[in-house]
Amino acid sequence: MISWGILGTGYAAGRFADGLKSVRGARLMAVGSRRQSSARQFAGLLAVPRAYASYSELIRDKDIDVVYIATPNSSHRDLSLYCLNAGKAVLCEKPFTLNHAQAREVVDLARRKHLFCMEAMWTRFLPVMRDVRKLIDNRDIGDVQLLIAGIGHAVHADAQSRFFNRALGGGALLDLGVYGISLACHLLGEPSRVTGRAILGPTGVDEQCSVILEYAKGQLAAITASLRTQGPNEAVVMGTNGRLRIHEPLICPYRISLEKLQGQTVQSPSAPRWRSIISRSAVLRRLWLALNAVGRVKTTVRSFRGNGYNYEAQEVVRCLESGKTESELMPLDGTIGVMKILDDARQQWGLSYPGEHCQMSPNVN
Ligand SMILES: NC(=O)c1ccc[n+]([C@@H]2O[C@H](COP(=O)([O-])OP(=O)(O)OC[C@H]3O[C@@H](n4cnc5c(N)ncnc54)[C@H](OP(=O)(O)O)[C@@H]3O)[C@@H](O)[C@H]2O)c1
Repeated sequence: MISWGILGTGYAAGRFADGLKSVRGARLMAVGSRRQSSARQFAGLLAVPRAYASYSELIRDKDIDVVYIATPNSSHRDLSLYCLNAGKAVLCEKPFTLNHAQAREVVDLARRKHLFCMEAMWTRFLPVMRDVRKLIDNRDIGDVQLLIAGIGHAVHADAQSRFFNRALGGGALLDLGVYGISLACHLLGEPSRVTGRAILGPTGVDEQCSVILEYAKGQLAAITASLRTQGPNEAVVMGTNGRLRIHEPLICPYRISLEKLQGQTVQSPSAPRWRSIISRSAVLRRLWLALNAVGRVKTTVRSFRGNGYNYEAQEVVRCLESGKTESELMPLDGTIGVMKILDDARQQWGLSYPGEHCQMSPNVN
């Protein structure tokens, strides 16, 4: 049995604790909070045996093997370093840290200490993502040329919340854009150029942003993120022979559609007369599209066991049981690559976070 501790008692902590219930070989041993009342309440609701009134007490608990860090982005570096220094394995929420330099520090320490460490990019471990990788590796859509991904949620504009608060590492890119960037890196690799634009709000964080990744082989990825509006929350990967749609919700997808392009890529300069008749009638147009899709679009649905968070946790358990210090599916160099892209884009719109460049010893209470 691998014993888990959770730092934080907010949304992600609760979802993860629930997900852990369906993980083989895992037990949730303790929760740590800045306040005794929150720790007790969380422990009571989720049947957690130990409730600590500080993060440091949980980290010092000798019975805990691995700590899941579910606190605001600005605390990820300090808490990860603290856990690793105490000999604990770490699963840290996305974004892994505030920037690439902080990620490097955490990764270096984990490697020096031969301890397991991973970014909690849960999307990557969901069952349907296996289908996505297989279809792309088998070249079912031919050579990938373009990826578009858009994620957005209309979040209540509260300057103190972790979404908008600059001191907590807020902003659309680090909160939502990171999913699209991570997907692009997973499927296309490391880009050769990053271009970013953003709209900064009154608190100074990016409330909407758009990032374009260019690849040496001429591929492109366009990622948008918004805290102001509901996005399509899906991704489309387009290749020379077809396209693959990862349906909403992109953060935790369960449905994909593969569409083969059988010669329809080229628009004939002299379209036949029946085409122009169809295009004038909405009913005929819909019927034509439906008939056209039959046999050409294949949809796959993969339902979850548990609430979805269990898959990343199961991967951690699998790695710990087999003595691995990194996951092959979510390697630390991949996380560092994502952090570099986030830095690059953020620099282009002039957003920095307070204290992000300080390299002091971790500050944990
Ligand atoms: N994988 C996912 O689907 C997913 C979803 C949401 C969020 N996340 C990530 O998970 C992390 C936490 O997000 P969340 O939505 O769970 O946030 P949240 O609901 O605001 O909870 C964050 C928790 O962190 C602790 N905390 C420590 N310092 C804090 C501070 N200065 N201000 C506020 N809270 C503080 C609090 O717990 P105590 O008071 O008990 O100490 C709080 O409950 C973020 O890094 C986010 O990017 C991931």
